[in-house]
Amino acid sequence: MRKNSKKTTLKEKLMGKKDAIDLLTDDHDEVKKIFKQFKQLVEDDAPHAEKAALVKKACNALLVHTKLEEELFYPAVRKATGDDELMDEAKVEHAGAKDLIEQLLDMMPGEDMYDAKFIVLSEQVKHHIKEEEGKMFPEAKSAKIDLDALGRKMERRKQDLEQEMGITDVDETDVGVLSGRDKARLTDEGLIP
Ligand SMILES: [Fe+2]
Ligand SMILES: [Fe+2]
Repeated sequence: MRKNSKKTTLKEKLMGKKDAIDLLTDDHDEVKKIFKQFKQLVEDDAPHAEKAALVKKACNALLVHTKLEEELFYPAVRKATGDDELMDEAKVEHAGAKDLIEQLLDMMPGEDMYDAKFIVLSEQVKHHIKEEEGKMFPEAKSAKIDLDALGRKMERRKQDLEQEMGITDVDETDVGVLSGRDKARLTDEGLIP
């Protein structure tokens, strides 16, 4: 559920400041960080609850991210670039990730293949991110899509999706979870010290 007290959140301060590619790249950085944390938990033989919480966080973030791309970003890029092959492959990769996510959300840590499934998901997602950042985003940039307007639209949709899924907002106390880019933006604006 969404906490509604004094909500000039960092997220709101960042509203409208990210273009579509910044927004997606920040999401990518966030999930890559979670993948690393999970590997560490496996190495440390961490308690199941810790693993489950992290896996849930990653799966939710990925579900919101893929939905956002499929609803708004991919159609805009497909239309502007006409690169159907690249966009079709990306959608197939999403479908593969979603299948693993559904399986993982139905499982408990300690069950057979739990760690393996999450590790394979992370490898597949990392490959997918490389394709997006290495090919799709450069194509989108040179296709002259209005990435600022698209970013604002995606930001609003992202908030709605997170609310629907009960994902809590980043709040004022969470400066530590901001990406380097977000921190720089907020510091530039004098919004955080
Ligand atoms: Fe994607
Ligand atoms: Fe992505």
